[in-house]
Amino acid sequence: MKIYQANILFTPSPEKLEVLEHGYVVVGDDGNVVSTYSTLPVEYQGHEVINFGDRLLLPAMNDLHVHAPQYRNHGIAMDMELLPWLNTYTFPEESKYKDVAYAKRMYSRFVHDLWSVGTMRAAIFATIHPDASCLLADLLNEAGMGGLVGLVGMDRNGPDSLSNTAKEAVDGTLRLMEHTASMPLVSAIVTPRFVPSCTPQMMTALGQLAREKKLPVQSHLSENPSEIAWVAELEPESTCYGDAYLRYGMFGQTPTLMAHCCYTDGEEFELMRKNHVFAVHCPTSNCNLGSGIAPIRRFLTAGIPVALGSDISGGSGFSIFKVMQYALQMSKLQWRKSQQKEAFLSLSEAFWLATKSGGSFFGKVGSFEPGYAFDAVVVDDAALNFDNYSLPHRLERYIYLGDDRQLTHCFCQGKEIAEPKLCC
Ligand code: GUN
Ligand code: FE
Repeated sequence: MKIYQANILFTPSPEKLEVLEHGYVVVGDDGNVVSTYSTLPVEYQGHEVINFGDRLLLPAMNDLHVHAPQYRNHGIAMDMELLPWLNTYTFPEESKYKDVAYAKRMYSRFVHDLWSVGTMRAAIFATIHPDASCLLADLLNEAGMGGLVGLVGMDRNGPDSLSNTAKEAVDGTLRLMEHTASMPLVSAIVTPRFVPSCTPQMMTALGQLAREKKLPVQSHLSENPSEIAWVAELEPESTCYGDAYLRYGMFGQTPTLMAHCCYTDGEEFELMRKNHVFAVHCPTSNCNLGSGIAPIRRFLTAGIPVALGSDISGGSGFSIFKVMQYALQMSKLQWRKSQQKEAFLSLSEAFWLATKSGGSFFGKVGSFEPGYAFDAVVVDDAALNFDNYSLPHRLERYIYLGDDRQLTHCFCQGKEIAEPKLCC
């Protein structure tokens, strides 16, 4: 058992920011939260307390959409919209991951950078390459961090250097599944890149795999107008983009993440609601690639689950705190665009999206309620807290103004996570 003392903030529900000034969190030997307390109950008195003083203790960040093999491209090459951007910058870079030594160099940096911004769990796209994908799982596991790693299926409209067959995608995913079987926090996720990259054979094979092995699914949905028009041409029998996943058993038949959903409406919206498909909001990417603004308020009102994603390298930075800031700001543009009908996000809603809502895809993750995994970050915001700000305002200032310099400790499933090593 471990007992930590700090200024504790978490969101049991979207509108409820729980604040415990100099409170306590008791963590069991299984790495799960026993409970939080404002004053330590007598039964724990005399037990060692690890005191973080005036620092903030927050649930760690969850990144529900990120491309590890786009590491080298993050922060550059954002001068095109989606389809030319993929062909010009992204596919050539991802092709390099056939070389495991290159993959090791980049993936070790990727894991390091997730850690540096307090992201302890992520849903990750790897590439078509099984060796490099297993290596990524190893690096996450060695770091003690959690994640879903997807071997990408793509058998049309890409370069030969970045294409696999349906059989290779299935075999590679099965290999990743076996490879991660003994890892406590890392596992495989079925990953068709997006409809334009996947023939009906690929979609059929991956849908069957997800169903048979009860694996979750991740992909992209309704990100960009040209992409949506292309899907309508490629899949004329589908009634909407989402239906092109549904027909193959990859739209909520098992837990499903769909990144972007900027233009999701009508039937697709209804299908997401009915099938509990997660909309993964990637506002930094949507700005950089000029994609659009996802109608987050409408998703939340309808009960469609929503999480946040960095979408490196459409997104330019790793920090989910920064993604929260963009989600808040984009929601205000959407509020105006909707003639003030779609209320903008509150700070506590944005924080909940990054923590409890996103974390729910991994189980009981993202809160400090009893039974939740103790995934946490410690923030020393003394430099930002130069006058007596309230704790909610300190959280807000950290979201808007903070960075990795203020993050002093990370925990995942109860264990403190040391700085992952860079390879070469
Ligand atoms: N759609 C298909 N592939 C990608 C990708 O790598 N990034 C983004 N943002 N959208 C995609
Ligand atoms: Fe993406």
